[in-house]
Amino acid sequence: MSLTVRPVVGRRAKITALGTYVPPDIITNQDLEKMVETSDQWITERTGIKTRHKLAPSLGVSDMCSEAAKKCLAARGIGPEEVEVIIVGTVTPDMMYPSTASLVQNKIGAGRCWGFDVSAGCTGFVYALLAGAKMVENGTHSKVLVCGADANTRMTDYTDRTTCVLFGDGSGAVLVEPAAAGEIGFIDSVNEIDGSGGVSLYMPGGGSLHPSTHETVDKKMHYIHQDGPAVYKFAVRKMAELTEALLERNGIGGKDLGCFIPHQANKRIITATAERLGMCPDRVIINIEKYGNTSSGTIPLAMETAIEEGKLKKGDLVLLAAVGAGFTVGTVLLRWEI
Ligand SMILES: CC(C)(COP(=O)(O)OP(=O)(O)OC[C@H]1O[C@@H](n2cnc3c(N)ncnc32)[C@H](O)[C@@H]1OP(=O)(O)O)[C@@H](O)C(=O)NCCC(=O)NCCS
Repeated sequence: MSLTVRPVVGRRAKITALGTYVPPDIITNQDLEKMVETSDQWITERTGIKTRHKLAPSLGVSDMCSEAAKKCLAARGIGPEEVEVIIVGTVTPDMMYPSTASLVQNKIGAGRCWGFDVSAGCTGFVYALLAGAKMVENGTHSKVLVCGADANTRMTDYTDRTTCVLFGDGSGAVLVEPAAAGEIGFIDSVNEIDGSGGVSLYMPGGGSLHPSTHETVDKKMHYIHQDGPAVYKFAVRKMAELTEALLERNGIGGKDLGCFIPHQANKRIITATAERLGMCPDRVIINIEKYGNTSSGTIPLAMETAIEEGKLKKGDLVLLAAVGAGFTVGTVLLRWEI
């Protein structure tokens, strides 16, 4: 391995703590068999999913984020008043506005901080994380709370078997702070958006183009619309293309990684990418069977799984990769410093 750590303009940034939260209610494949023409066997073989979590009707994404954020801050041993910025990756905010970040600030009791939401489909957490890392690197902030969360079950049509089996609800939060002397933390990232793919995965109703009316609801425009095979092909191609470019320009290969933490959309997309990178399956984190696709929640939830399984340790080189609606693609190389 000949990792060449690219210099940053200011100081280096790292993740210092992690917290996650999933709501307790579960939808099993057997539950879905009662709702649509599907089977546990089809869902398991085609996606790898067995169960997904569902947020209680009285709660919103800001509640999940707040729970994850509180656990994250407790893990770091600091209070909410120390947080300087809150960034939330989500496409299922509580409402159009105010932002989820504002709601989280109030719910966790953070003091004088600022923040905003990032809308990038399932890549939301990765882009939010990069924004937070840049704020720390450029020296303007030292404690950025980055959340990734989605309540996809709220936007899912439970009469459409092609989408309802895929999605679940979940959240995670990390704290980004300056790296100490000798630590590396964030190393590099390669990202891309391709708006021509917007028609393959979208929620057409409820925005300024098609504000909610009886007609938009009758036409089910408030639900997730997806061309599954088109998304699948793009995801397999781009996830591999961008991660290869990222590793190559940093002088390493898949075998040098301690851990690959990908977005969890479909087990077959993950294994296809890992195979192309030549990664040992042991180092690829997969928890889709438990949670399904929680969009911006998947990567922090997979970080938690990696830690629980003893696969993510201080000093490991870690690759994060996500593809989402937009299309959006995000990849990050970092050294785990916790
Ligand atoms: C959605 C997805 C699982 C479908 O798998 P696929 O192998 O591409 O399957 P297809 O869509 O080609 O459908 C194959 C058949 O299964 C059927 N089918 C689709 N969903 C089904 C379900 N839940 N249960 C049973 N059969 C189903 C289709 O109707 C089709 O039947 P037909 O051959 O009679 O027309 C897959 O395309 C996928 O994962 N796409 C990416 C989704 C994604 O990642 N989204 C989020 C991006 S962040």
